[in-house]
Amino acid sequence: MKLAKYLKPYRLFAIISPLLMIGEVMGDLSLPFLMRYIVDYGIAENGLFELVKAGGFPYEVMNFLYGAGNYSQLSIIITFGVMMLLIVLVGGFFGTLCAYTAAKAAQGFGHDLRCDAYKRVMSLSIEQTDKFTTGSLVTRMTNDISMLVEFVEMVLRMCVRSPMFLIGGTIMLISLNVKFGVVLLCSLPLLLVTLILVLSKSVPLYSVVQKRLDKVNSVVQENVSGARVVKAYVREDYEIERFMSANGGLKDINLKVLRLMAIITPVLTIIQNFAIIAIILIGGIDISSGIGGMTVGNVMAGITYVTQVIMSIMMVTMMFQSISRAIASGKRVIEVMETEPTIKGADKSGEEGDIAVTFENVSFRYPGTCGRPVLHDINLEIRRGETLAIIGSTGCGKTSLVSLIPRFYDATEGAVTVDGVNVKDYDLTALRSKISFVMQKSELFSDTVANNIRWGKTDASDEEIKEAARVAQASDFIEHLPDGYDSYIAEKGASLSGGQKQRLSIARGVVRHPEILIFDDATSALDLATEAKLRRSLNEKMKDTTVIMIAQRIASVKEADRIAVIEDGTIKHCAPHDVLMRECETYRDIYASQMKKGGDIGE
Ligand code: CTP
Ligand code: MG
Repeated sequence: MKLAKYLKPYRLFAIISPLLMIGEVMGDLSLPFLMRYIVDYGIAENGLFELVKAGGFPYEVMNFLYGAGNYSQLSIIITFGVMMLLIVLVGGFFGTLCAYTAAKAAQGFGHDLRCDAYKRVMSLSIEQTDKFTTGSLVTRMTNDISMLVEFVEMVLRMCVRSPMFLIGGTIMLISLNVKFGVVLLCSLPLLLVTLILVLSKSVPLYSVVQKRLDKVNSVVQENVSGARVVKAYVREDYEIERFMSANGGLKDINLKVLRLMAIITPVLTIIQNFAIIAIILIGGIDISSGIGGMTVGNVMAGITYVTQVIMSIMMVTMMFQSISRAIASGKRVIEVMETEPTIKGADKSGEEGDIAVTFENVSFRYPGTCGRPVLHDINLEIRRGETLAIIGSTGCGKTSLVSLIPRFYDATEGAVTVDGVNVKDYDLTALRSKISFVMQKSELFSDTVANNIRWGKTDASDEEIKEAARVAQASDFIEHLPDGYDSYIAEKGASLSGGQKQRLSIARGVVRHPEILIFDDATSALDLATEAKLRRSLNEKMKDTTVIMIAQRIASVKEADRIAVIEDGTIKHCAPHDVLMRECETYRDIYASQMKKGGDIGE
């Protein structure tokens, strides 16, 4: 299997573990024989006589320990009893070590695999993550990998144990009495038929189980992260219903698998008991008619061996079950591991020049969609240090346009260049570190205010952070927080207002002193006065930074060097405010509509 390489660093443990198991199994297999000696020679009448008559290993042992004829039946019981005890202790010791090494190998395997899978998930492009869905990625990272870990552990412990019990037990059984072997031979086909029937039905169901688990995870994830909306629309009942249905689906399929599996145990027990009865019967008849060497001890050992063999078959079944689960899960993990990130960096990096960003005949459609492209015929040159505003009705493609600059997506046609180099030829880190992207929806992390800002630049000093906050007009409200910059922000910034979140996100973008600063409607929640202050301080502190600013309000874009008006996925006009007012009808319409509504367009 492709995932086997993850076991490699732990191969020492993976090899030792089955070897230790051999020790345990040998111990277990020898116990019934010793017990037989105790019954036949220690307890039975004429035990001593039988011992001498039978000769062989027990006779040699007794002679070696006590000298010929120098022992009683009690000493036979004690000798072999102590031997059994020692074997149990040593076997147990081996067993424990085996379990430990197997766990060590399996957990190491799981840990490394999870690390790599996570790295892979992080490297996937936005489009690919969306395709897998978050719920499914979470299941694959957690549950599926756990299944694989369980499987590895199981195999390490059982791959030796079951076959050894099966073969060893059969050999021991036959060496006790050939007729016992016949009993086993008769019960095996019955057993195998049942197992094959059950397994062939249950194995295909495992991939369905994982899929349903994905669904449950998806619903939980969506609702927990969207808890506010769910509450606001009083959709709890509906969402609980949706969860119930996903949960019910999971239960149904699990029950179906378990129902099938439930057949195995009773059938196995019945067959086992019949085999035991048969052995007692054969043994009993032989003993009473005094046929060749059958003894009570033989029958007892026979029963134990038959049980061991049948149990080992049971274990093989469990192994099959685990294998089939592991195959289903393995496929899902491999699917993630083998997804090549569609957006991959190259090694170039551009030098700062006069032109910061260009779009050359760019058209763009979201991967996997067809129909009209979201953007088409985009030609645009953005000079270094320029402030370019983008305005346009909602859904016209503003966010899509700027997403092409840091390569969140790749242009379908045409080229986007940054500092004269096509973004596709950039080293991704080099490209993205030139850019600060303040998103339409502020994403904050559950950490302190300072650390949230520091996200933009990991080694920023306290002074730099305060400076960035001042530029972003966030310092006032931050200083009013109970612990200032050390105040803790709840998950996703739940403890802040919309405008406060936006300003923190802006500070995070500013602290990095990027070459290109992109605001995607990032000032929408600020009042006009604050927004004007922000613009002024940006102009002052970040003269060389190219600012691309998407906004809905004329007031926000009015002072920009140029304003690009987007309509129907293409740039209709790109000029300063005054020119647009004269030449662009769309722009005048927007202006007029906002004048009517808001009145105060300037400040
Ligand atoms: N779109 C899409 N797949 C996405 C995101 C967007 O198909 N993953 C489509 C939308 O349906 C929309 C178009 O692309 O019709 C442009 O979206 P966007 O660039 O996000 O529009 P904006 O101009 O940014 O709209 P808004 O002002 O509302 O942010
Ligand atoms: Mg947008």
